[in-house]
Amino acid sequence: MNYTVVLPAAGSGKRMKADKNKLLLELFGKPIFVYTLEVFQQDPSCEAIWLAVKEEERSMIEQNVKKYGLTKVQGYATGGAERQDSVRACLESIPPCDVVLVHDAARPFIEPLVISRLAAEAHAMGAAIAGVPVKDTIKKADNGIIMETVDRDQLWMIQTPQAFTYELITHAAQSAFEDGFLGTDEAMLVERLGQPVQIVESTYENVKMTTPDDLVYGKAILESRRQEDQR
Ligand code: CTP
Ligand code: MG
Repeated sequence: MNYTVVLPAAGSGKRMKADKNKLLLELFGKPIFVYTLEVFQQDPSCEAIWLAVKEEERSMIEQNVKKYGLTKVQGYATGGAERQDSVRACLESIPPCDVVLVHDAARPFIEPLVISRLAAEAHAMGAAIAGVPVKDTIKKADNGIIMETVDRDQLWMIQTPQAFTYELITHAAQSAFEDGFLGTDEAMLVERLGQPVQIVESTYENVKMTTPDDLVYGKAILESRRQEDQR
């Protein structure tokens, strides 16, 4: 199933404590966001890539897009104060298409197989998002005192990509904007319309580069993939 991908890249990376947008940090000499873009550049089902960027970072990002031959990048939108604003700016810019994937530019280790499952499910169901089963025991607490142990079987840690039909996500984003609703992911915008959202099982490697320790894990993933390729 063909799709257009929207990549929010207009954050500031405060938790990374790097004094610049964490996406510009390099892993083995290549910026994090370039790894993410390369996954979609290499996926035959990806028709177009749109990026939400900060105005002042646009030329630096464009230079890298050129340098790494990322020819599927078709446009840029100016990001907003919240991630949801950045995604909406992109959604307002892209031409209508079948399926739209929204993916954090900060998740460079997404597996192509998960992407294709998401695109297919979104086409069939309207909405499909990546997630992994919770590994730890989860408890609810009040002031540190346990109130309840939550049944883990029903719990998922949600990631991106999140995939939707173009009609559904543009409608959901517009309606959230009109209602002043701020969600922590795109699926919430669709859930509040009463629409079903399918979870597609992803991998634990699809981490978001968020805090400095994630960079250590990121390098380890790249190293092990490199070794696998050599075998
Ligand atoms: N993002 C965005 N626009 C924003 C905020 C975030 O496009 N206003 C993007 C980030 O660039 C990132 C993705 O959304 O690719 C996920 O957000 P997050 O991991 O929270 O990144 P930051 O907001 O940059 O980091 P932090 O919250 O630590 O400041
Ligand atoms: Mg953030």
